[in-house]
Amino acid sequence: MANDVQAVAWNGDGLRLIDQTLLPGRLDHLDVRDVDALVDAIQRLAVRGAPAIGVAGAFGVAIAMRQAEREGWDRPALLAAVDRVREARPTAVNLAAGVDRVTPFMAKGPDAVIAEAQALLDEDVRGNRAIGAHGADWLLGRADRPLRVLTHCNTGALATAGWGTALGIVRELHARDRLDVVHADETRPLLQGARLTAWELGHLNVPYYVQADGAAAGTILRGLVDVAIIGADRVAANGDTANKIGSVGVALACADAGIPFVVAAPWSTIDLGTASGDGIPIEERSGDEVLHWGGVRTAPAGARAFNPAFDVTPARLVTALVTETGVMHISAGETPGRR
Ligand code: MRU
Repeated sequence: MANDVQAVAWNGDGLRLIDQTLLPGRLDHLDVRDVDALVDAIQRLAVRGAPAIGVAGAFGVAIAMRQAEREGWDRPALLAAVDRVREARPTAVNLAAGVDRVTPFMAKGPDAVIAEAQALLDEDVRGNRAIGAHGADWLLGRADRPLRVLTHCNTGALATAGWGTALGIVRELHARDRLDVVHADETRPLLQGARLTAWELGHLNVPYYVQADGAAAGTILRGLVDVAIIGADRVAANGDTANKIGSVGVALACADAGIPFVVAAPWSTIDLGTASGDGIPIEERSGDEVLHWGGVRTAPAGARAFNPAFDVTPARLVTALVTETGVMHISAGETPGRR
C-alpha cells in the first residue's frame, strides 16, 4: 500500500531502497552497501525526488565510512567517496545538504552519522505532514467546491522520506473530502507521473487521470483544473523554482488562466545561498532517454537530443510556496530570502 511506502530506509548495515525504475510493474528493493551502488542508484533514478535523495545521501556518508573500514581506505579516499555521493546529481539541493548535514558527525563514527541521517528522515516526514495541512488550509480558504488539481512529476511518498510534498497536499485534500480529481502529467521522458504518481494515487483511492505533458496547457486554459501543485528540487532565495522539466510551461498556463501555481517544498529544498534561478545547475541527462522509447529507437539515426531534466519557473509565476512553516506569496514579493 502506498500509505506504507518507504522509499528509503536504513536496514542495519545499508540502505534499503525501493527500485523506482521497476514501478509500477514490480515493487522490489535494492540493498545498497557500497558507494558505487548508491551513486548508480541515484543517477539512474532508482531512488529519486529531492527529499528522498537528500536522505539517501545522508545515509550514504555512513555507507562510505563502513566501506572505508572494510576496505582499508585512507582519509582522502573516504572524503572523495563522500564527494561522489554529494555530487551524484546536481540540481536538487537536498542531496548536497543531506551530505553536509551529517559530515560534522563523521568524527564520532558511523553510528552518529546514521542517527543524524535518521533524524533528517523523521523531520522530512513530519515536515511533509505540515506542508499538507498548510497547503490544504490555504487552498480551501479560496475554494467553494472540491478541487481539481494538476500535478507534474512525482512528489509523493516515493520522492520523499514519506507522505509527500505536492502530493501530500493532495492527500490532505482527499482526507478532508475536498479533492475532486487529479490530472497527473505523464512527465516525459522517464514518466514519473504516469508510472509513480499514478501508482501512488491508485493505492490511495484518489481519483486521477494520467495526461500527456502536452495536454497540460489545454487542460488549464479550458478551466478543467482549479490549481496546479508541484514540488521543487531547489528554490532560490528570490523564489525562482527548479523542478522537473515541463513545470514552467504549467506555470505559464496557470498565469494566463488566472489560477494559482503552487510549489510545495520543505525548507531543506530552499537554497538561500543561491540568489536566483540563474545560479541553479540544471542536470542534462543522456539523449537516449528522449531518442528511444521502451528500448526501441524512435528518432531517426543522426537526430540529436536536448535533455535537460529540470527547468526554472521564475518567482513571478509562483503564486504560493508552501513549506512546513506556512505559506509564502512569492509572486506578491514574499520571498524565502527576505523573511
Ligand atoms: O528527476 P527526478 O524524478 O528526481 O525529479 C523529481 C522532481 O522534479 C520532483 O518534483 C522534486 O524532486 C520534488 S519531490 C518531492
